[in-house]
Amino acid sequence: MSEDNDEMVVTPWEVRGKVDYDRLVEQFGTQLITPQLRERLTRAAGGSHFLLERELFFSHRGLDWVLDMYDRGVKFTLYTGRGPSGEVHLGHLVPWLFTKWLQDSFDTRLYFQITNDEKFWFEQGLSFEKVQQLADENILDIIAIGFDPEKTFILRDVEHIDLMYEIAVQVAKRVTFSTARAVFGFDNSMNIGGIFYPSIQAVPAFLHSWLTGERTPCLIPCAIDQDPHWRVTRDVAEKIGYYKPATVLSKFVPGLLEGGKMSSSDPMSGVYTTDTPALIRKKIMAAFTGGRTTVKEQREMGGVPEVCSVFSFFKFIFMPNDRELAELERKCRGGELLCGECKQMLAPRVVEFMEHHREAREEARERVHEFSASRLREEIRR
Ligand code: TYM
Repeated sequence: MSEDNDEMVVTPWEVRGKVDYDRLVEQFGTQLITPQLRERLTRAAGGSHFLLERELFFSHRGLDWVLDMYDRGVKFTLYTGRGPSGEVHLGHLVPWLFTKWLQDSFDTRLYFQITNDEKFWFEQGLSFEKVQQLADENILDIIAIGFDPEKTFILRDVEHIDLMYEIAVQVAKRVTFSTARAVFGFDNSMNIGGIFYPSIQAVPAFLHSWLTGERTPCLIPCAIDQDPHWRVTRDVAEKIGYYKPATVLSKFVPGLLEGGKMSSSDPMSGVYTTDTPALIRKKIMAAFTGGRTTVKEQREMGGVPEVCSVFSFFKFIFMPNDRELAELERKCRGGELLCGECKQMLAPRVVEFMEHHREAREEARERVHEFSASRLREEIRR
């Protein structure tokens, strides 16, 4: 790999190179989740989550403040989202599963944004019809996670712009082109839809306050690639009369191929919710691992779980039991467990998970309206 390819680039639209999370936190100016803060969140939630314990959700902005408010009896809302540029992969599910845990634990509303405008503006060659079709399909994956229909509102930017535009207008006036260029790296070739877009992604952070007329804290769970949006959103929040939204940020589930990202340009690099069981098995058996070149070497020197995509899959989703994971790691490092065997163990777990997900996804087809943000139109306090 050339040095250029290895250089770390993390923006909301591109993740490239080897991600150094310590450097990223410094570059973005987010905070690390300390053991004390983790403990506070766990206590308030009434139980722990392995994604937090394993430091896969590892960084934040203002999470301590949200908990201060919560201790004083002020509840928060949740906000997360999806840009419908392709099928949903396992990486996307990670922040959503964590969001579901937060919704269940805190019994709170979730605003879920579907950015059908963003993906049309940012993806060359993607027609609006295709974006809409992907949005319809991606929404099934979201509903399949099991969010509470009474407390979950799926906002499609284009269809629900009437609920969003007033806030977007307020945000847009406070963000200069020079800020947008510096934060998002826009250049002169960016279409003006893209330049305006960050004001739309800011909106759901304030939507609950706008609807109810009561300033309400908002917590945004997502991977760290979205952080530049929250920097801008937090900067304008108080100027337009709202609380700064807080965030809780995860690392990325690495791709199955060497060097790492799940990328739609190489379908073998990720497992998608629409993959057949045979294809899932094939992808896992072809995955990059931390194994040695020969069985003899592996028996003698052991594997390297920290660079292994199979181990990451276990760690992020498929082995929530800490003891089981520690045992797997021990056997891998000790050369007791070979990569082939480990893959054989992972494949049925992924297939089974996906079968459940697919069933829930099919059932969701009848239930889309239950989650629609159209219901919010009746709530506008005016
Ligand atoms: P999108 O559709 O690229 O990603 C959806 C969510 O998945 C996270 N993510 C990952 N998490 C773990 N491992 C990975 N490999 C991985 N790849 C992506 C993203 O951080 C995101 O949380 N512009 C946004 C849509 C959006 C949004 C939001 C996202 C609108 N409002 C609020 C989060 C929160 C987008 O295109 O996300």
